[in-house]
Amino acid sequence: MTTNQKATGGKALDRLQELQKRSLVGGGQARIEAQHKRGKQTARERIAKLIDEGTFQELDPFVQHRATDFGLADQKFLGDAVVTGYGKINGRPVFVFSQDFTVLGGSVSEAVSQKICKLMDLAMKTGAPVIGLNDSGGARIQEGVLGLAAYGEIFTRNTLASGVIPQISVIMGPAAGGAVYSPAITDFVFMVQGTGQMYITGPDVIKAVTGEEVTHEELGGADTHTSKSGVAHFAYANEEDCLAEVRRLLSFMPSNNLEDPPLTEGVDAGSSDGSLRTLVPEDPMKSYSIKDAIAKVVDDGDFMEVHERFAPNIVVGFARLGGKPIGIVANQPEHLAGVLDIDASVKAARFVRFCDCFNIPILTFIDVPGFMPGTEQEFRGIIRHGAKLLYAYAEATVPKVSVLTRKAYGGAYLVMSSKHLRGDINFSWPTGEVAVMGADGAVNIIYREAIAKAADQAKERARLIADYKEKFANPYVAAGYGFIDDVIDPAETRQRVIAAFAMLQNKRDTVPAKKHGNIPL
Ligand code: HXC
Repeated sequence: MTTNQKATGGKALDRLQELQKRSLVGGGQARIEAQHKRGKQTARERIAKLIDEGTFQELDPFVQHRATDFGLADQKFLGDAVVTGYGKINGRPVFVFSQDFTVLGGSVSEAVSQKICKLMDLAMKTGAPVIGLNDSGGARIQEGVLGLAAYGEIFTRNTLASGVIPQISVIMGPAAGGAVYSPAITDFVFMVQGTGQMYITGPDVIKAVTGEEVTHEELGGADTHTSKSGVAHFAYANEEDCLAEVRRLLSFMPSNNLEDPPLTEGVDAGSSDGSLRTLVPEDPMKSYSIKDAIAKVVDDGDFMEVHERFAPNIVVGFARLGGKPIGIVANQPEHLAGVLDIDASVKAARFVRFCDCFNIPILTFIDVPGFMPGTEQEFRGIIRHGAKLLYAYAEATVPKVSVLTRKAYGGAYLVMSSKHLRGDINFSWPTGEVAVMGADGAVNIIYREAIAKAADQAKERARLIADYKEKFANPYVAAGYGFIDDVIDPAETRQRVIAAFAMLQNKRDTVPAKKHGNIPL
């Protein structure tokens, strides 16, 4: 190399390094400090916490917005308001975009959208998850319709990627206006308590339109969305915990719909657990927590619950059995006796469909008195919402194993992974009971006249109830028809479900060829 070439190379390198330095500080030091004062980390600090150390490769650090109106010609920042790139989590490839609030409030411009869309296209081509760290004032107001188009392009990619690669949204600051619909299409939404906020219209607009007064946090904070609206699945007190749990969640799922979930080698089924024999109380009016059963059955009691605070009458989440990730759906007798209401049906249906998209087998624990009665539920459409769960179970082709712990009545028996909805293996504990309805209700209907005529009505009703229970309140009637494959000792549940899933490992099942089904939305 000549001296001249060296000099040119040196200058070019200097320029690169100068531009890289500028790109790294986003909106500048003062805004970084303001970001920290708000209790938030910067876009790059967050990526560093999320991604395996030393693996992040940035894309498009030199992209800038092209707008000139409303003073934007003087406000150009290298990389614009998002940091994008790829790296690894737990050694597996992922794509990440992290909105940079220090640049024009993280607002989404045409250029920002282009960066995010490029990332999503690469993720689709290569079959790796996309994680979006959201902290943004929404569409860049100064760009007008371009800002709207910017979001439209992202929504389309979110939709096309759905069911192909896992998509995770983390709300670490504002997510306002139509911008919330990108996270809403993704598979899981995480929120940071106190700083993450999502709403379609903010408190000011609400006050102007309806007169209602509400704070930002009450309206769209993590507590609201994890317990009331169900928009968010997870909430954590700080950004570190939140990002660590994103990493944990990814450990249960494959990188795309053509892969199997990652296997942990060398985990055996262990020995039986006698304490499961006494989990279901003898008194049918007493409740217990199905989470105790889950903890005793899955590997190391490690259960990552999804939607913990929303519709707690049904429990869903991820665990492993013999080292293999599974999804769990379980009625929770501790809340509303485990009844299926609208929220529980929708929560479980979406979870079942996620598992089915990504080849994650489903274990279902059943103790369900039925669908929730009442005008409130009927008028809000429990018929079409409950149908979602039936549809999801019937449609799912992944291995489906169930354990009936106590009761399975009526339509709720059918919906919870029953043989009739293509359940593969259905176990019952000896305390299980499959019936059209509880003995009291059944006797009141089928023996109404006989009871009315009896000299001692209470005694006659009690006799008929005992008789009905003798006949139907056990698992052997359903097992006699083959609807239950076996009645098992509760102590051996872990070993039996591990063996069932091992048998089902190469299961192949399909749905008829079609454009797509029409799930009752
Ligand atoms: C351009 C924006 C912006 C936006 C914020 N900023 N949002 N710039 N477009 N959408 C700028 C601010 O002007 C400010 O710049 C800087 O970002 C930081 O914002 P602050 O207001 O100082 O921060 P904070 O007090 O934390 O409040 C954050 C906020 C608020 C709640 C997000 O900025 C806000 O309400 N922004 C507007 C939200 C909104 O209505 N967006 C449009 C939604 S409609 P300076 O230079 O002053 O520091 C939408 C349509 C999507 O998104 C359509 C999809 C269908």
